[in-house]
Amino acid sequence: MDFELDKLAAELQKEVWSQFSEVVIDHANNPRNVGCIEEADGYASVTGVCGDTIQIWLKVKDDSISEIKFWTDGCGTTIAAGSMVTELARDKTVAEALQITPRDVLDALGGLPDESAHCAFLAANALHEAIKDYRKSQGRGSARD
Ligand code: FES
Repeated sequence: MDFELDKLAAELQKEVWSQFSEVVIDHANNPRNVGCIEEADGYASVTGVCGDTIQIWLKVKDDSISEIKFWTDGCGTTIAAGSMVTELARDKTVAEALQITPRDVLDALGGLPDESAHCAFLAANALHEAIKDYRKSQGRGSARD
């Protein structure tokens, strides 16, 4: 009985994941840059329309993002999007990181099903808000400064 249930669960999981790219599955199962940063230079917590939240912490050195971490209470695709946006932003200048769009996150993930695309928007939005927070702390209120 247990064996049958395990088999069924494995088949269901396989079917669910079949709509996602290898990159999404990899980042969902092995997310990069998970955690938080004590005394971060920039921080944001953003909640999306679905109720999921992504938090991002970053450290800036010589105008580049030297360290970046994220946390989310969201599902696998939210985890993958948070992981990917931190990978895309790491070692970029602050200005370059601000140019990272939801489309960039989607492309880097190899796409997401339409119903999950908002995860990429949430991740990019959280990154932008953390950068805005950093810039505010530097006395530069606008993200376009
Ligand atoms: S399911 Fe809500 S952000 Fe992904």
